[in-house]
Amino acid sequence: MTPIVLDCDPGHDDAIALLLALASPELELLGVTTTYGNQTLEKTTANALRVLELVGRQDVPVAMGASAPLERELVVAAHVHGESGLDGPTLPPASTEPVSDDALAWLARVIDGAGTPVTLVPTGPLTNVARYLETHGTAGLERIVLMGGAIAEGNMTPAAEFNIWADPEAAQIVFDAELDVTMIGLDVTHKAVTGPGVQRRLRETGRVGVFVAELVELFTVYHRQTYGWDGAPIHDAVAVAHLLAPDLVETRLRNVEVERDSELCRGRTVVDLWHRTERPANAHVGVDLDTDAFFDLLVDRIGTVG
Ligand code: RIB
Ligand code: CA
Repeated sequence: MTPIVLDCDPGHDDAIALLLALASPELELLGVTTTYGNQTLEKTTANALRVLELVGRQDVPVAMGASAPLERELVVAAHVHGESGLDGPTLPPASTEPVSDDALAWLARVIDGAGTPVTLVPTGPLTNVARYLETHGTAGLERIVLMGGAIAEGNMTPAAEFNIWADPEAAQIVFDAELDVTMIGLDVTHKAVTGPGVQRRLRETGRVGVFVAELVELFTVYHRQTYGWDGAPIHDAVAVAHLLAPDLVETRLRNVEVERDSELCRGRTVVDLWHRTERPANAHVGVDLDTDAFFDLLVDRIGTVG
């Protein structure tokens, strides 16, 4: 089993990533840390607790992290995920609370005590991960598999993907870490557009599959308006799926730098795909996805969650 921590901002696709992790015996979900991003920290934390309770996994600890970026103004993606951050399906309020430790203290304690190097799976802005690396370094960490960035166009701006755009300084700290980092960007996750066919397959798997399909339905509203798609790219679930079946995502070991000076290109991940510079490779960058295999894995695993 691979011990992981999901650092997330639920968020519709974060919620699906969390359910996929819970459904996968290959992974030992040590806990969840939350960050601002799709909504405020309070709302993303409440959503993480609600999703865990939906499937009877209140045993999984949730630790609250950053409420704002390292330096930038707080901007949340309510225009995509709604006022609650998880609009759409009916989901009762959580009856549980996060742990008393903040995310950094909780991460330090859990990583130190894990006995096996821990994989971090950030699926929101990278503020928590950057702060952790700056405070504790990479000891006890196996790798980072993050959802964020893009080789090509962005989604928050023409140049930048939201998670990186939200806190570009944090993202650069992560790419500068002397650690095995994998970047699952939009070039890959936009191949995971979950349309009516997959939504139908999810519904047929049972209660949790219906919940996931309802998340996708709401998440589709923004993507239909923006891209004309009849479905939503469940970005964060691809990062978890890559841990379960590495070959699903084709990656290239390349240099990635984050634009932090320009306003026009703030948060752009500049990926040196064709070795145009001498900059050293620092990340495995996703370039392609086996979409059918991804959806087969998702439907199969979601069907096993209670
Ligand atoms: O740009 C997509 C990413 O931003 C996803 O992780 C989504 O949940 C939001 O956090
Ligand atoms: Ca996210």
